[in-house]
Amino acid sequence: MTPEATPLHGRPDEVPRRIVVLNPKGGSGKTTIATNLASYYAVQGLKPTLMDFDPQGSSWRWVRKRAETAPPIHGIAAYERNSRVTKSYALRIPADCQRVVVDTPAALVAQSMPALTRQATAILVPVLPSDIDIHAATRCISNLLLVAKILRSEQRIGVLANRVKRNTLVYGSLLRFLETLKIPVVATLRDSQSYIRAAETGLGIFEMKPSQVADDLAEWTPLIEWLGRRPVMGDAGNALLRAATVAQRASLP
Ligand SMILES: Nc1ncnc2c1ncn2[C@@H]1O[C@H](COP(=O)(O)OP(=O)(O)O)[C@@H](O)[C@H]1O
Ligand SMILES: [Mg+2]
Repeated sequence: MTPEATPLHGRPDEVPRRIVVLNPKGGSGKTTIATNLASYYAVQGLKPTLMDFDPQGSSWRWVRKRAETAPPIHGIAAYERNSRVTKSYALRIPADCQRVVVDTPAALVAQSMPALTRQATAILVPVLPSDIDIHAATRCISNLLLVAKILRSEQRIGVLANRVKRNTLVYGSLLRFLETLKIPVVATLRDSQSYIRAAETGLGIFEMKPSQVADDLAEWTPLIEWLGRRPVMGDAGNALLRAATVAQRASLP
């Protein structure tokens, strides 16, 4: 897997890029994408932070499961409101962190979308190829455009077709639907046991034996490259990112 081609790659003083994985439909693959993306960045030495806004805490538990010897990922249980530590301490992103991956809850209301996506360099929407999921994704994307007021021209939204069985009718419907939305499909992931095996052990597929996951790794290349091409946010600093996180949490039910 090639590392991201970006002139800022490896600079510890850069503002961390924030990638938000979002789709109010449960089971679409948000946690799978968020944890594996964090695993990729960890292997790349980018000291990622994985911020979990889902009260079910699946991403947070995955980070806790990781072996001490695994490449570090800083986990933040952003859904936790009653932590005894102060809010800003609990939400602090380490200074050496270069990527923030945000996992979001199911049933997220449209009103929470502006705060969750404001500081995002990229918003990934995983969609399963089924009629119900296609319908839910239409709503999700129109809320991102109309409520969160993300412009198509910003090219921050990318759809990820997940658990795909190619050559099926419903996969064809998904592709046609995405074409009408004019939102790019930045990756297509097959249904694979590798993700289930990885999740059990707090690993990502990037940390498994490459010979066992070669087909899955190859499917991530277009996504990693697309993410690497997203423009870095202006001159927003860490303080701004923290403020955004507090606002995001406050806006969640
Ligand atoms: N590409 C995939 N192949 C096989 N199983 C998958 C894949 N993506 C997700 N899953 C499984 O589907 C279930 C729901 O995925 P998850 O990432 O938890 O969705 P969400 O966070 O959107 O609710 C999990 O059991 C996960 O392991
Ligand atoms: Mg989840």
